[in-house]
Amino acid sequence: MTEAELYTVYKGIYVPAHLHTPQSLKYFEEFSFRPDDILITTYPKSGTTWMQEIVPLIMSGGDPASVESLCNWDRVPWLEETRASELNLEDRPSPRLLTTHFHYSMMPPSFFEAKPRVIYVMRNPKDVFTSAFHYYGMASHLVNPGHQSEFLQKFLNGKGVYGSWFDHLKSWLNAEHKEHIMYISYEELKMDLKDSVARISQFLEKSLDAEVIDKIADRCLFKNMKQNNMSNYSTVPREFMDQTKSEFLRKGIIGDWKNQLTVAEAEHFDAVYKDKMKNVKYKFVWD
Ligand code: A3P
Repeated sequence: MTEAELYTVYKGIYVPAHLHTPQSLKYFEEFSFRPDDILITTYPKSGTTWMQEIVPLIMSGGDPASVESLCNWDRVPWLEETRASELNLEDRPSPRLLTTHFHYSMMPPSFFEAKPRVIYVMRNPKDVFTSAFHYYGMASHLVNPGHQSEFLQKFLNGKGVYGSWFDHLKSWLNAEHKEHIMYISYEELKMDLKDSVARISQFLEKSLDAEVIDKIADRCLFKNMKQNNMSNYSTVPREFMDQTKSEFLRKGIIGDWKNQLTVAEAEHFDAVYKDKMKNVKYKFVWD
């Protein structure tokens, strides 16, 4: 199916129509943030699900009850998706754990008033591309990626869902009130998960013993998270996500782009990256 059949254009970017109805987008626009909400923000395929496992475990002091009983989309729901409006988030006790794939400029008015804490997870865009290429091939709400070179052009031009990786990143890096935002990369999580969990818990002002941090980090290792049916998308029917084509928790490594992109494609990617990121001062782990 084509973009016209599967996507809605919302504020200039594609979003999957199946997940975002006019009602769900209205719900998002009218959502009332609280100052003590915790919002996970990502461009897709950057480590969203991983953070949806880490943050609830930190906030519960390591108690796995919620990650064992609630699917990630109920545990830390995407505010812009249809499901959010059915979850009575207004009745959830603080601190509420929430997720969004939207850009900073798309946040609703209450976000700028309440200034909730944000954890922005970013990942080497070549690995985001690689992960997305496999994901678009298995998820029926997304346009089949087609030939890799064609998908690469779409990715670099911001013609995938949730718009351009570059615009998404820059919008959040340029956000105001950065004291409310923690920027962390997939690569940092991967290179030192214990240290990352400790840093995230500090940001969330949740003091945890070293043993609890170890326990959380262990649960959130790729091989262990892959076994959690509440986080590995195994409850999603095959007609929506065909994990025989590609698993949701697929490889979970740094640098898989080297197995995916040709030399010419990687060079082209680097050239576009250099141009689009020329005014960005942030020091990325992958640079
Ligand atoms: P790969 O396709 O490269 O394996 P998102 O949740 O934002 O959609 O991101 C999905 C990507 O994060 C997938 O990348 C997935 O395997 C990876 N991921 C999820 N949990 C992980 C974990 N515990 N450790 C490492 N990678 C993880």
